[in-house]
Amino acid sequence: MTSVVAGKTAAIVSDITALRDRARQHIEDGAVTPSYGADRPTVLKLLNEALATEIVCVLRYKRHYFMADGIHSESVKEEFLQHANEEQGHADAIAARIVQLGGEPNLNPEGITTRSHAEYREGANLRDMITEDLVAERIAIESYSQMIAYLGAHDPTTRKLLEGILAVEEEHAEDMATLLKSL
Ligand SMILES: [Fe+2]
Ligand SMILES: [Fe+2]
Repeated sequence: MTSVVAGKTAAIVSDITALRDRARQHIEDGAVTPSYGADRPTVLKLLNEALATEIVCVLRYKRHYFMADGIHSESVKEEFLQHANEEQGHADAIAARIVQLGGEPNLNPEGITTRSHAEYREGANLRDMITEDLVAERIAIESYSQMIAYLGAHDPTTRKLLEGILAVEEEHAEDMATLLKSL
């Protein structure tokens, strides 16, 4: 019985001696081992695009927070600020994962709107602002869904990070859609 279990484990995890030897090679790669299943340059490029997207969303929500005025603006402003802070949290988590994968977070302001999937749209009034935020959230939802599908089982850590972010973007989209109806 024991040998069957051990045999199965060996088939899944591979030879322990080889495993220990490989772990000692390329230790400068940190968390990235030969078993990393995704194409690292592609994942880093996608994550840097996601990082740019989050930063554009921080800036757009901040602009909307400061510029919102009118009779309905008080509760909407708070929502904008909360979203700005959550997008900043996403940006930080993505940047940390980029470093963990041996890459560098691209925080160069030059080109950030080109790298971003979502757009920076100021909006002329409260309704325009909420509409632009809803559109940006829907862009983020679609691009994160595609990245998650691409990562699959190849990089479960990045996939789970993006799944968590996706769930928040879906809440953001719902918040904006609800606000739009209430105006
Ligand atoms: Fe976000
Ligand atoms: Fe969002």
